[in-house]
Amino acid sequence: MRFSLALLAFLSVVLGRTVDRSLNDQDVSLRKDATVLILGGGVTGVTAARTFHEQGIDSFKIVEALPQLGGRIQHLTFGVKGNEYVLETGPNWVQGTETKGGPENPIWGLVKKHGLKTQENDWTGSITTYDHTGQVNYLDVFDDAIDQFTNLTIAAGERVRKKLVDLSSRTGYSLVGAKPKTPQEAASEYYQLDWETGGTPEVSSMIANSWAANFTYDPDFGGFGDDNAMSIDQRGFRTFLQAEADTFLKPSQLVLNSTVTKIKYSASGVEVILAEGKKLTADYVLVTFSVGVLQGDNLVFEPALPDWKQEAIQGMTMETYTKIFFQFEKKFWFDTEMGLYADSERGRYPVWQSLDHAKFLPGSGIVFVTVTGDYSVRVEALPDAQVESEALGVLQAMFPTTTIPKPLAFHFPRWHSDPLFRGSYSNWPPSFNSGHHKNLGAPVTQKLWFAGEATSQKYFGFLHGAYFEGQNTALAMSKCIRGKGCVIPQHIEDVQNAKPYHI
Ligand SMILES: Cc1cc2nc3c(=O)[nH]c(=O)nc-3n(C[C@H](O)[C@H](O)[C@H](O)COP(=O)(O)OP(=O)(O)OC[C@H]3O[C@@H](n4cnc5c(N)ncnc54)[C@H](O)[C@@H]3O)c2cc1C
Ligand SMILES: *[C@@H]1O[C@H](CO)[C@@H](O)[C@H](O)[C@H]1NC(C)=O
Ligand SMILES: *[C@@H]1O[C@H](CO)[C@@H](O)[C@H](O)[C@H]1NC(C)=O
Ligand SMILES: *[C@@H]1O[C@H](CO)[C@@H](O)[C@H](O)[C@H]1NC(C)=O
Repeated sequence: MRFSLALLAFLSVVLGRTVDRSLNDQDVSLRKDATVLILGGGVTGVTAARTFHEQGIDSFKIVEALPQLGGRIQHLTFGVKGNEYVLETGPNWVQGTETKGGPENPIWGLVKKHGLKTQENDWTGSITTYDHTGQVNYLDVFDDAIDQFTNLTIAAGERVRKKLVDLSSRTGYSLVGAKPKTPQEAASEYYQLDWETGGTPEVSSMIANSWAANFTYDPDFGGFGDDNAMSIDQRGFRTFLQAEADTFLKPSQLVLNSTVTKIKYSASGVEVILAEGKKLTADYVLVTFSVGVLQGDNLVFEPALPDWKQEAIQGMTMETYTKIFFQFEKKFWFDTEMGLYADSERGRYPVWQSLDHAKFLPGSGIVFVTVTGDYSVRVEALPDAQVESEALGVLQAMFPTTTIPKPLAFHFPRWHSDPLFRGSYSNWPPSFNSGHHKNLGAPVTQKLWFAGEATSQKYFGFLHGAYFEGQNTALAMSKCIRGKGCVIPQHIEDVQNAKPYHI
């Protein structure tokens, strides 16, 4: 009995293999649900799908828990009746845009192609500074922090050239002589670093963080340019991605409202189990879920992911970036685009942005403040009313001679608690080395592949990072699917110290 079962299993494996090889793309889709299942319909998933299509592989399906494509690109309709606006709760900037005659952020290309309405947002030249006593001009300190950040990226570049180990950005700052002591210095540093990475200098890699900045903003380093274009398109920012999907995607290639609970993989293919028990089968799977989702326990891999993969997944950090929106009867704040508030507690309601501005949504009465990292996790755990009153208290400190009115509308999203994201975007910690990062993106067997903003070495955290990862991974997979020139990116079994410890 045992023997015959084993024999049967053996035969079916052998036959399965033979059948696999003799079937072309179309035949496979008759037997399995698709050749490739793309898990997740964000920028990575949609870009991967478009790449497969361009490579002549149309037997794919995008599986997505939400009712629409776009992933983290989400918005909300905000404001009192008669004065409502579509506001972006997720990403809203195309960062770096382009340098004429030089490289272009591919998201910027899509934004232009699909006619999105954007405005250049001046982060450094249009800002008013405050502390607990009200408006105080410390733009000299602010400008120094910009130079200190540049000095940090230069020192990081030297470390790369000399093959020195990575350090935290905090250590790096100290080594270039930047040691903020006052709340104003701390707030200015926060604006350069935390407001971008979502994490503090203590938890952010000095080298990787400098790459992300250089490769996005510095044309001398292959970066796109130093502008930031903000979407104010009232159809929502994700329109650029959905309109692009409309150019190639067929309804039969889209499985929406479907949460994946389990991914089974073996040498012969993959099975993806959905929340309602439905099963999808394919030859390959491309997982594009956030690293926060991969770190959690809601998604089961069978067999369990190998140690090298788990170490890479748990080793990356998922940070949170929270925009807290207010609508007031009328504007009573700064005329600049940005406002910076220096609290005695670093990271407490620091970065304010006016949407009631000629360039953005004039007459909207809307201003928002951004908090990040642990402070985001903290506010998510609080009731809305407490966050509202704390932030109003900060506004009162910033504008001591104004009686801060009750807002007409108030909202903030909870990215960290959202089981489909578990944060906003990845941040590379100092303990995560190049081997870990290679392992984060490496496939586990020929069948189970991974991509997402977090697997981008140059642009982790960004929309364009997601774009390039979707494209590059689908290109590599296409070669394997077509059986021509397949190169499986290798992982590192043990990520080791260059020098062992002697104790
Ligand atoms: C608040 C915020 C601000 C940001 N600001 C910017 C910015 O201004 N500029 C910029 O360039 N980038 C910004 N980013 C980062 C940017 O949004 C991401 O880098 C990018 O959207 C990631 O795309 P992705 O396809 O890799 O992942 P995702 O968009 O997360 O796509 C993965 C998809 O998988 C789905 N999913 C997850 N789990 C499951 C499951 N179990 N079953 C089925 N489906 C599942 C999710 O619903 C999601 O649609 C911001 C992000 C946030 C949250
Ligand atoms: C998904 O669910 C939403 C409700 O959340 C519904 O309006 C929509 O029709 C569903 N879409 C599909 C494709 O099932
Ligand atoms: C940046 O580094 C240069 C060169 O070491 C130094 O002269 C300058 O003071 C630094 N800038 C700041 C703001 O620390
Ligand atoms: C970042 O760019 C600066 C120039 O502004 C360069 O000196 C440095 O080496 C770069 N850093 C890294 C980590 O590539």
